[in-house]
Amino acid sequence: MLQRRDRKVTRRICRYEGVCSLGADAPIGVFDSGSGGLTVVREIRRILPNESVLYFADTGRLPYGTRPQSQISRFSVEISEFLLAQGAKAIVIACNTATAAGLGAVQSSFPGPVVGVIRPGSEAAMAVGGSGSRVGLIATEATVASGVYDQELAHLGLRNGPLKQACPDFVMLVEAGQFDETAVRDAARRYMKVFHESPVDVLIMGCTHFPLLAGYIEEALPGVELIDPAVQTVMTMKAMLEERELLSKRKGEPEYKFFCSGDPMVFRRNLVSVLGEDSIVLQAAV
Ligand code: DGL
Repeated sequence: MLQRRDRKVTRRICRYEGVCSLGADAPIGVFDSGSGGLTVVREIRRILPNESVLYFADTGRLPYGTRPQSQISRFSVEISEFLLAQGAKAIVIACNTATAAGLGAVQSSFPGPVVGVIRPGSEAAMAVGGSGSRVGLIATEATVASGVYDQELAHLGLRNGPLKQACPDFVMLVEAGQFDETAVRDAARRYMKVFHESPVDVLIMGCTHFPLLAGYIEEALPGVELIDPAVQTVMTMKAMLEERELLSKRKGEPEYKFFCSGDPMVFRRNLVSVLGEDSIVLQAAV
């Protein structure tokens, strides 16, 4: 059952209906529940510098990590429809929680290429660790409960399933903007305890908010290889666009447009701290 606030956001997103524009110079649509997906946009900027981006932060309904899978799936489809109406040629689900719950549904409804972060993240972990490695996973409660990382890693040949730890406080600490260093350090120490008790070789940051706290995670768990699925995700999107001849050939500067469903000023602060001031157009979508 949607809460009143969620229904309002849903109605506003659904207002955007439009025509699919799948030209090569159309933007890539990217979404997350909030600012975490900006860590993926950062990699798009580096790896695909010609591509324009439309980003949707569902800050009005964050966090996703404590919501039921069916609801997250519905939100994911709604947002990808909104991005399609805005002219997106492809979708990057820059959210593990939305990937776990909604990748299949978005793939069935969106006419262009769609990539999530979980398969690429699992591939990146396997490339570093190999099938005999001890893999750790930190993620939201919903991603941990979905078992999607376990399935992907097993499919790629990992012999023993990952050791998993949900870290819900990390998401809210990132969204709060100005890091409360003591609170982040305390949370990192608390969440990494399990990996001190049962050591791992690689640790997948299975929530796109977490790479923004990588320094604190490393400090609490020194010597473990941290995996950020963003790089492999963008490489996968690049290959998909190449294959469909959808890579942008535009000469001028790409355009970056950002939408959020919550308070634009709060989102703007996080946006600037992750991506900097330049080439940013922020529009409150809802
Ligand atoms: N950034 C999202 C992820 O990668 C989830 C954060 C949330 O709980 O909303 O899973």
